[in-house]
Amino acid sequence: MHTIQSQSVEDKHELSEWIIVAIDLWKIYRLGKIEYPALRGVNMRIRRGEFVAIVGPSGSGKSTLLNLFGALDRPTRGKVIIDGVEISALKGDELAKLRNKKLGFVFQTFNLIPYMSALDNVEVPMIASGLSPKERRTRAEELLALVGLKGFERNRPNELSGGQQQRVAIARALANDPQIILADEPTGNLDSKSADEVIEVLHNLNNRGVTIIMVTHNLNLIKYCHRVLWMKDGLVEKEVEQNVK
Ligand SMILES: Nc1ncnc2c1ncn2[C@@H]1O[C@H](COP(=O)(O)OP(=O)(O)OP(=O)(O)O)[C@@H](O)[C@H]1O
Ligand SMILES: [Mg+2]
Repeated sequence: MHTIQSQSVEDKHELSEWIIVAIDLWKIYRLGKIEYPALRGVNMRIRRGEFVAIVGPSGSGKSTLLNLFGALDRPTRGKVIIDGVEISALKGDELAKLRNKKLGFVFQTFNLIPYMSALDNVEVPMIASGLSPKERRTRAEELLALVGLKGFERNRPNELSGGQQQRVAIARALANDPQIILADEPTGNLDSKSADEVIEVLHNLNNRGVTIIMVTHNLNLIKYCHRVLWMKDGLVEKEVEQNVK
């Protein structure tokens, strides 16, 4: 494992408090001869157990940033440190392991497998985990119950509402007990009632200690977020702390 070198006890304390650290993060997309800097030197620290919202205009770099946090893409320059590990230093298989064990992803379009039941969808990430089929089943049932979907285990995605599908996707993201959930506009395709349900589920998870970073356009959905980061033109323009009950 490549951990960042700590020179003092204070540094070690820092490592434990901050679960994600971004240092001078650049992402320059190249389209032929044209270069487009989607991120222009982002510095950011996310506390363990924090619920953070990232907001800002379309094209400001929110998804790009989340993809770098999730090791789905590599920065052009700068570092991402997840739980003390600099992820650019990791090899492909180590990166896959980190993605599978520490991170859970939730996307706007749910990305469920259409011909599988809710239960089977939640089990997919557990297949490589070493759990027996019976243990996988039990865990998937527990996770569906946790997101309020007891009784819907056998439904396929097209037999569920949008909000229910997203809750299946959240249960799937929790399959390997991640410390961090990265959610890119998780309510973007939902009506306001379903969006509220999804936010309540995320809030409950956060209360159980999961760190959540959520990109959203909807400022009605940030009431449980401890901090709101406003992005503009590839940088964090401002940061607002919120009092969450
Ligand atoms: N693969 C890519 N190749 C080239 N340019 C890209 C690529 N992905 C994103 N961009 C550009 O980078 C900028 C930031 O994109 P990004 O998707 O991060 O924005 P966003 O804040 O998530 O926007 P939205 O709110 O619309 O989802 C945009 O100008 C976009 O066109
Ligand atoms: Mg986006």
